Amino acid sequence: MKIYREKDYDAMSRRAAQIIAGEITHNPACALGLATGSTPEGAYKYLVDWYKQGLVSFRDVLSVNLDEYVGLAPDHDQSYRYFMQSNLFDHVDILPENTRVPDGLTKDPEAFCAEYDAYIRSLGYVNLQLLGIGRNGHIGFNEPGDHFVKETHVVDLTESTIDANARFFASRDDVPRQAISMGMGAIMGAKKVLLCASGEDKADAICRSVSGPITPECPGSILQLHKNVVLVADEAALSKLIAAGVEV
Ligand code: PGA
Repeated sequence: MKIYREKDYDAMSRRAAQIIAGEITHNPACALGLATGSTPEGAYKYLVDWYKQGLVSFRDVLSVNLDEYVGLAPDHDQSYRYFMQSNLFDHVDILPENTRVPDGLTKDPEAFCAEYDAYIRSLGYVNLQLLGIGRNGHIGFNEPGDHFVKETHVVDLTESTIDANARFFASRDDVPRQAISMGMGAIMGAKKVLLCASGEDKADAICRSVSGPITPECPGSILQLHKNVVLVADEAALSKLIAAGVEV
């Protein structure tokens, strides 16, 4: 695993954006697996800036997002489709028909999830999968459990995730209890994984994912089995890994 140790959130964001822009430059018609949340927001800002400066174009890029809350419409301001539109898609030249985010309102989740996986397979999997990580080690919404789930699936969010995401909603009761998430098959099928983390509250999850046992109790630990993972993290998120004596 290649680890970029960055000073702070801004430096992490810039580095992550450079890696994504590099992927697009290298392969303008690449498929990107995209993520939502506070972690990638800064990287998306850099990409929007660079697009406006003519340094990168999303004209031929395909995108597939990791997850979406069950029950939220695309225009709900906490839906992940809304997040992607407002943080990236509305500001760059990606074609709307080339962007995919799971449908939180699907009437037939089973068929939807199977179709989502079939689409990702039809791409030959994504060229680059961007990931944040939850404090509990989740990637996408693959929550800690007793086994890794391979397929895109409906997941019951853990209390810890509901707590972490309550800050975005009017009240904790408004946080959806379920999400549709890509499974580990699609994530591990990516040719390259770009894992990003910032802040001390991610230090434990990063330490366990990078140097702990590979276990579904820490979903991020599965990345130790992937051949091409780049971790971009700031000092705070790396602090426990550093304290554990891992060279970064
Ligand atoms: P965050 O979420 O980027 O908002 O911290 C990451 C995650 O929970 O996967």
